Amino acid sequence: MSSIPSSTEIKLHSQQQQEAFGVLLAGVLPKHAVIFLEGELGAGKTTLVRGILRGFGWSGTVKSPTYTILEPYELAQQNLYHFDLYRLADAEELEYLGLRELLGEGLLFFEWPERGEALLPPADIIVNIQHEQSGRVLKFTVRDPQLKHQITALIKNFPSL
Ligand SMILES: Nc1ncnc2c1ncn2[C@@H]1O[C@H](COP(=O)(O)OP(=O)(O)OP(=O)(O)O)[C@@H](O)[C@H]1O
Ligand SMILES: [Mg+2]
Repeated sequence: MSSIPSSTEIKLHSQQQQEAFGVLLAGVLPKHAVIFLEGELGAGKTTLVRGILRGFGWSGTVKSPTYTILEPYELAQQNLYHFDLYRLADAEELEYLGLRELLGEGLLFFEWPERGEALLPPADIIVNIQHEQSGRVLKFTVRDPQLKHQITALIKNFPSL
């Protein structure tokens, strides 16, 4: 038995680390999942998604969906839908964007999920990001035990500074 307790929290000290961990996460994510990204303005939510997209081989730009609400990506393996609900004015906007049709169509990331309230499907993964000194602490809440185990292993093996 390892004496190191399993953890679903990781401290990331820089933007580069945040992206690098995202790259690794891409390797364990299922093809279809709903992922909530919690954390205040500037927490690093978009940075994590950028890393995940890099992990899936996306080399183009990764824009914050702050104004568009949705940025879609067609990847080799599956589609990825990056939502930012910060400026969501009303529920119908999500209908116009076709959220209902996108469910089960790929990976769905939501920044500011609390602004979508009851309109969103339940999350498979919740990533809560908090400032800690100049870095960030990411806390994962994972529904599927096997995926939780995989993320815990990534955290354990991530090179710390
Ligand atoms: N682990 C980290 N350590 C230090 N800085 C970080 C870390 N992760 C991201 N940053 C920096 O935090 C800033 C904000 O990042 P980002 O745009 O990803 O935040 P966000 O949570 O998406 O914000 P918003 O709610 O406004 O969309 C960027 O300058 C980024 O480089
Ligand atoms: Mg953002």
